Amino acid sequence: MYIEKVKKNMNLPETVRILDTTLRDGEQTPGVALTVDEKIRIAKKLDQLGVNTIEAGFPAASEGEKEASREILSLGLDAQVCGLARTLKVDLDAAIDCDVDYIHTFIGTSPLHREFKLKMSKEEILSKSVDAIEYIKDHGIIAEFSAEDATRTEFDYLSKIYKSVEEAGADYINVPDTVGVLVPTAMNWLIGELKKDINIPISVHCHDDFGLAVANSLAAVEAGASQVHATVNGLGERAGNASLEEVAMSLITRYDIQLDMRTSQLVNLSEFVSRITGIKMPPNKAIVGENAFAHEAGIHVHGVLEKAETYEPITPEMVGHTRRIVLGKHTGANALRSKLDEYGIEMTEDQFCTVYDQIKNLGDKGKKVTDADLKAIAVTILGRAKKQIVKMEGFAVMTGENVMPTATVKLRIHDEVKTAAKAGVGPVDAAINAIQSLISETAYIELKEYHIEAITGGTNALAEVFVIMSDQDGNNATGRSTREDVVMASVEAVLDAINKILMVI
Ligand code: KIV
Ligand code: ZN
Repeated sequence: MYIEKVKKNMNLPETVRILDTTLRDGEQTPGVALTVDEKIRIAKKLDQLGVNTIEAGFPAASEGEKEASREILSLGLDAQVCGLARTLKVDLDAAIDCDVDYIHTFIGTSPLHREFKLKMSKEEILSKSVDAIEYIKDHGIIAEFSAEDATRTEFDYLSKIYKSVEEAGADYINVPDTVGVLVPTAMNWLIGELKKDINIPISVHCHDDFGLAVANSLAAVEAGASQVHATVNGLGERAGNASLEEVAMSLITRYDIQLDMRTSQLVNLSEFVSRITGIKMPPNKAIVGENAFAHEAGIHVHGVLEKAETYEPITPEMVGHTRRIVLGKHTGANALRSKLDEYGIEMTEDQFCTVYDQIKNLGDKGKKVTDADLKAIAVTILGRAKKQIVKMEGFAVMTGENVMPTATVKLRIHDEVKTAAKAGVGPVDAAINAIQSLISETAYIELKEYHIEAITGGTNALAEVFVIMSDQDGNNATGRSTREDVVMASVEAVLDAINKILMVI
């Protein structure tokens, strides 16, 4: 609505290309290293999503990087495959050897990079840049030039170097905000000034050191930049890069710029990358986070149930997400009724009030309430709860130096007593493995979350264990136990959650 008031002052391009750098800058996320096979799997998904260019890696860095670029090229994707290279011949040759469609070459241009990293003069840097572009173009490859640390480079010099590479045949110039120092108004100004002299498409590459990567990318587009570098989940060096899902959804829904992207694949891609890289998204991550379409407050839930747009700016389906009504201390009666309806649970008004009070009480105590917890509370109040299905009858652990921790667990499951012994990385892991092996014949239930907290001090401190267990249908149930013995507390918490799941399935 208000954007219409300012759009006329923008220099929006007709369309914006996305250069995805998850496999290059994203892989520079501390602690992340992708195998060739993992890169291939991510590249296929990026292509299905519809990104224009995939920066597959830095071919000069290793044999694995070369192999990844070659293998991704051999897939014959619709997306162009790009390799990163310094302006050095050895780097450019490594990328050329991989037969990439596109080379992104870069050199530091700011005083800091010139003086301390490269120890080169402005003239040397300019001539190396021009030579690199000419070399790439002599090989008939698409050439993009980045002035690394552009946003801390003197404007006159920056503009001169970009103009020179344009004249040398570059297809794109890219403006990296290498350490994320710009604010959106400054980025907007910079791109606007560069646009006055540069006739090839301007690209932007923003880092998130101040949480401004997406805002800066959008500010660049408002000034006429027609390509954005982005990464899935905002992965990347230090605080990361502009997040692909946030940039894409903002461009499409805030600016009405068509990207030709199958946005309903965004959540699946985000989860896939998160699993492969081991970098979990916070629940409140925009667009793809677990809570992006979750509603708890009674007022919000009421609004969403009447008309989703009251508290949702876009539909969850647009990005492949699902709406979730979450129960807790802010839950309103409407939300609870809609949940009970969803599960076909009917009850009297009195029973409803008892369930409602219990949910609120749990929320007040800071407890998480899952749908399986609600079902367990409801069936108990309705008197339909099955008796405790899994009961512990006996338990022993063995642990120490140079021995594999092992746990023996004896459970009564549906009146049948079974025993299993399993090893684990520690006694808790061993105990949970033994329980899971015994339960596996009844249901597949796995541990999703495990938290432990000492609630008093000293070696005899009380430990509170909180777990979330999940079955194959996605039913999650919480379990808790407080004990002096951490292993016993863990076993009880796990059995608590397992019983809740078994009680309602
Ligand atoms: O952040 C950066 O400057 C880069 C360059 C390689 C473009 O990633
Ligand atoms: Zn970068």
